[in-house]
This record gives sequence, C-alpha cells and structure tokens, in this order.
Amino acid sequence: MASYCCGPLPGRPSVPLLLLLLRVSLAQKAAPVSMSAATSLSGYFGTKSRYEEVNPYLLQDPLSLGPPDHRLLLPSAACTPLQLRALIRHGTRFPTEKQIRKLSQLHRLLQSQERPCPVAQQLARWDMWYQPDMDGRLAPKGRLDMEQLARRLAARFPGLLAPQRRFAFASSSKHRCVESSAAFRKGLQLALHGQPSARDMENEETEINDKLMRFFDHCEKFVTRVEKNTTAMYQVDAFKQGPEMKRVLEKIAATLCVPVRDLNADLVQTAFFTCSFELAIKNVNSPWCSLFSEDDAKVLEYLNDLKQYWKRGYGYEINSRSSCILFQDIFKHLEKAIAESKSSMPISSPVILQFGHAETLQPLLVLMGFFKDKEPLTANNYKKQLHRKFRSGHIVPYASNLIFVLYHCDQAKGPEEEYQVQILLNEKLLPFPHSGKTVSLYTDLKNHYKDILQNCHFSEECELSKTNNTSTDEL
Ligand SMILES: *[C@@H]1O[C@H](CO)[C@@H](O)[C@H](O)[C@H]1NC(C)=O
Ligand SMILES: *[C@@H]1O[C@H](CO)[C@@H](O)[C@H](O)[C@H]1NC(C)=O
Ligand SMILES: *[C@@H]1O[C@H](CO)[C@@H](O)[C@H](O)[C@H]1NC(C)=O
Repeated sequence: MASYCCGPLPGRPSVPLLLLLLRVSLAQKAAPVSMSAATSLSGYFGTKSRYEEVNPYLLQDPLSLGPPDHRLLLPSAACTPLQLRALIRHGTRFPTEKQIRKLSQLHRLLQSQERPCPVAQQLARWDMWYQPDMDGRLAPKGRLDMEQLARRLAARFPGLLAPQRRFAFASSSKHRCVESSAAFRKGLQLALHGQPSARDMENEETEINDKLMRFFDHCEKFVTRVEKNTTAMYQVDAFKQGPEMKRVLEKIAATLCVPVRDLNADLVQTAFFTCSFELAIKNVNSPWCSLFSEDDAKVLEYLNDLKQYWKRGYGYEINSRSSCILFQDIFKHLEKAIAESKSSMPISSPVILQFGHAETLQPLLVLMGFFKDKEPLTANNYKKQLHRKFRSGHIVPYASNLIFVLYHCDQAKGPEEEYQVQILLNEKLLPFPHSGKTVSLYTDLKNHYKDILQNCHFSEECELSKTNNTSTDEL
C-alpha cells in the first residue's frame, strides 16, 4: 500500500521535507521507532488489517475526518441526508481459539528445539499471552475503533446523528459484534451528549439479527456447496502447495533452523497473523514480524485473499447471492424513507446501524459489482494479480464500514432528481461500478440493480433441492 507511512524511521526527525517531518514526528509519538518492521508488512494483513491502514491519518488523530477530498458529500444547502444505513464490521478482535491453538503448537515447536538458532530462541522466549478463552472476542482496541468511528460519523452527519433521533441498532449474535454495537453507542453518546448521561445508550436494545448479519449461515446452498465442501477451496489448497508458498516455507524453515517438513502454510500463516494481531491489538512490533520480508507478506496476503475470493467473493455465485436478503432490506428501507418523505411524514428509520462481519460486507459488495477483476484469482496467477482490485485489507479491515446515504435534494430539476444516494466504504466515497460516479439518482440505482431486486430471492437462491447440483455456479 503505497500511501502507508514510513519505511525505516530515522532516529531523529531531521528530514527536511515539512510533510515528511510532520508524519515522522507524529508517527514517533504514536509508536516506538522499532515499529518499522511491522508497519512495512501491515499493508498485507488482509482481513486482519487495522482500520488505520485504509485511513492512515487516523494514526495521528483518531477523530480526524481526513483530507478534504474525502468530504465530497452532497452540499447540505441543496441536499439533506434523509437516511443513513451503516453496515459495520466489528472492531479489532483477539485471535480465535483455533488460531490460538495453532500458535501454541508453533511456539512449542520452537521451544522444543535444541539447535542454537538466534531467531528461534528469541521466539521461544516470547510470552505466549493469548488464552483460548479470548476466542475471537473484541479487544480493547476494538472498543476504541467503534467509539471513534461513532464520533467521526456524528461529526460527518450532524443533521442525522443528532440527539433527538431514533437509532435502530442491530447486530450479529457473535459476542464481538454485540460488544462493538455497545462501544459504538458509547461513542455516539459522547458525541451527542458530551458525557455518558442519564440516557444510557449503551444499555438500549440492540436487536440480534443473524438472518441479516449472518445470512451465510442460513443459506443451505452456500453451507453445502462452499462452507462444508472440502474441495470448494481447491485454489487455496493448490496455492498452499505452489512455488510461491514453497519459497516462503523454505526461507522461514531456514531462519528457524527447523526441517521444512515441520512447517506448513497454515503454521507460517499463523506466525504472520500473530505479527498482525500484535500490531492491531497492542500496537507493538512483534518479533514474529521479523520472520517476513515484504515479498513474503505479499504471498501471504494473496493466500488470504484467495480464500476470501472463493469463500466470500466472486469465486462462487452463491457467495454473493446469499446476501440478496440484506441488499433487499437496504432498498426496502430506502423506499420506505422516500415514501415517507413524499408524503411529508417523519422518517421512521433515519439511522440504521448494523454490526456484522467481514463475511457480511464482502458478499454484498460483490453482489453490487465492486472490486471485480477481469480474471479470477487462482493458484497460478499470483504474478498477474499483483495489482488486483480484490484486496481484502483495503476493503474489509477491522471496523470496516459500508454506508448508504439517501439524500433529499430541493433544487432538483425534476421529480426523479429529488432523491439521490451516495455510498461510503471506510468513510470514503465509493464510486458506483456502473457509472464511476460517487452519486447516483435513486431511480438510476434501482434500475441498475433491478434484476437483483426483482429476481434474487434468498429462499430460492439458497435452497438446495430445487436447484441443479451440477456445478454451473463456478465463477
Ligand atoms: C464442491 O465443490 C466442487 C468445486 O466447486 C464442486 O465441483 C462440487 O460439486 C461441490 N460439492 C458439493 C456437494 O456441492
Ligand atoms: C436443471 O437442469 C435441467 C437440465 O439441464 C433444466 O432443464 C432445468 O430447468 C434446471 N432446473 C433448474 C431449477 O435450474
Ligand atoms: C444430483 O445429485 C444426485 C446424487 O448426487 C445425482 O444422482 C443426480 O444425477 C444429480 N442431478 C443432476 C441434475 O446433476
């Protein structure tokens, strides 16, 4: 990621360029000098990327709304936001139990080693502080991610996120999402009322809604054909055995002075994820990071993206079709808000805040046609895909958010120009795939997605028995 700060930091910020000086001094304030190893890899952490990776200015000021070109929202003089729907991935989390178990395994392997080997010995002494019961829960940094996101959104949309508003909160049943929702409320409370006040928003109801936030669990066809299908990830498995991964494995085995047969792609990925968790959760440059070069990181990023692509992305059509239910719910509420606006009624759901997963956002973005590469991601086109659009670290880092804003525009030339829509991904305007523009007339949008709106029905798409079991849904 080219825009990311800083490479090796100088000991003293004596660099002449004003901007660079500013970045360096602020980066030093935020983190020790030794951060450079972790931060040279941090653009490649895929779904385990910290949110600051996509908006680096937040490292300096977590409440900043970013450079002016992020703020191309429609002018409030002509257009008023009527409704905001935010789909928010939970904040920074701890590793899952499975990831923690694999890390213990790798750590024990290094501890049991007798040959003198500086890197392995350093890692053997590393304090294995992760406990199995942390199992994917929201980390303290994850609470901050959510509080600060809430405060920024309140500053970005003061007319909508206002004290007397009704907020509709919904969440996946997973603990980290429910906690994210609570932390977001706390941030909103702070933004709207200055201090945690009598009206304790943290304790207000969050509706648990797995039907919308974890649609993938409820889609039988997805579960059978993809999730539980041992051959569905064959591209991922092939890449794990392929030449790029083999080179990384051999290098890491040599560094750790272990036979290459003691390692595999999963263990190496575990070490890489540990580097990412230590940076995201504790803001430290972990010794695990020193195992990897930037080229290794690119290979491991591709491994992560391949899995996302085949499990949540364009790889199989059912991945995205299963999100129709959420897509249609979004349009149902847009439609309702427009109907209410047309009959001069108050908008019943002006602000809808929903907390889910990378797996919630990614299929929906794919259904809408975002981040589509000309060719599929496969085990053998790593080089060709170096400049791919489908990079999950840029799309769904922790705390990633997809926001639909419906506007009512007064000075419209005709009735169909009255309602307009913008989409923000991670607080930046996202150009629509069909037009390349960052705003769309509501009628154009509805027309563009007419087929999905009319013909994609969750129950039919996801039913196994009614559809043919020949694999016509590939690519
Ligand atoms: C599993 O995935 C493979 C590859 O896409 C496909 O050929 C096969 O039909 C799938 N099996 C099931 C049970 O869906
Ligand atoms: C299943 O496949 C058969 C033969 O290819 C086709 O005639 C039929 O319309 C298909 N059914 C569905 C529900 O797609
Ligand atoms: C569907 O699968 C069943 C059993 O696996 C098989 O007997 C049948 O021929 C398949 N139907 C189609 C249309 O492929």
